Amino acid sequence: MSDTAKLESELLGAVLQAKDEAALEAVRVSALGKSGSVSALLKTLGAMSPDERKTKGAAINKLKDAVTEAINAQREKLKDAALDARLASESIDVTLPVRETQGETGRVHPISQVIDELTAIFADMGFAVAEGPDIETDDYNFTKLNFPEGHPARDMHDTFYFPPDASGKRKLLRTHTSPVQVRTMLAKQPPIRVICPGRTYRSDSDQTHTPMFHQVEGLVIDKSSHLGHLKWILEEFCKAFFEVNQVKMRFRPSFFPFTEPSLEVDIQCKRSKNEVRFGEGDDWMEILGCGMVHPNVLRNCGLDPDSVQGFAWGLGIDRIAMLKYGMPDLRPFFEADVRWLQHYGFRPLDFPTLAGGLSA
Ligand code: DAH
Repeated sequence: MSDTAKLESELLGAVLQAKDEAALEAVRVSALGKSGSVSALLKTLGAMSPDERKTKGAAINKLKDAVTEAINAQREKLKDAALDARLASESIDVTLPVRETQGETGRVHPISQVIDELTAIFADMGFAVAEGPDIETDDYNFTKLNFPEGHPARDMHDTFYFPPDASGKRKLLRTHTSPVQVRTMLAKQPPIRVICPGRTYRSDSDQTHTPMFHQVEGLVIDKSSHLGHLKWILEEFCKAFFEVNQVKMRFRPSFFPFTEPSLEVDIQCKRSKNEVRFGEGDDWMEILGCGMVHPNVLRNCGLDPDSVQGFAWGLGIDRIAMLKYGMPDLRPFFEADVRWLQHYGFRPLDFPTLAGGLSA
């Protein structure tokens, strides 16, 4: 083997041996640096005769090219390997939950969580959110909703009244979210498609009733919406809310002064002392009232029942929260016990979305 061939095989071997960029650089300096072995050979070219230069010169230049190419190839290989190693060591498991900082140790109350969940579902169906005050007039809470003065249905509401004002009128804590229907119809023309979540008040307290509770009203008014649409919306809502493909619901005829016909809706559940389970058992829990908006109500709100129609519902938010999250008693919702909230509450940064999961 000629000297150049021997040097080439030595150098190429050293290049392949270099395990990191620093070692490779050392090989490069030892071969191609100022006093490197290949540079030394190149320096001998000047003293050679033209014939000698032709043969030996070509071989030395070939050696230089081969070593340069091998060093470049090895450098690329080492760079790739270093990048792979870095990526492997820095990998992040994006499915891990967000680590709690001190600012996140608080918990979102299940009622707030459920309001966020149902708002996401109805927003996806094209509903806007409407709001009204907790302190209402008798006119909006009752009269415009077709409860005439002295009507017995008023007594069923166990209303909290304020003392009468100078003109003898008494304001009240709204007993349902239905006055927001009135406010919406008075303020805008159909087509109307709104939900109205909020606090409501009645003088009542047991396992499934608290003096302050929550409802979400729904209202759809246009030229042709009917009970079939209502039933579809409620079923789709329940499936999305309970995150199941099938729900058992029972529609019963009922009476409300502000709807005709009127229905009440129950959802299948199993009740035991410590738990209420949705989707099992032979019990039913009433979750909402609904119906076609009564022509008198449309008229009272400045709409013409001969040209527009629609439906409405009032859903008990606390009830569906109990059903979804298996809580047997409503009262602890409002006892402000931090231990209860730690157990049943939701993490503040886990916003419910349809795409990301409602209660994940
Ligand atoms: N406001 C009724 C209640 O609190 C619930 C209700 C029933 C609301 C029928 C409606 C409806 O909008 O159409 O008992």
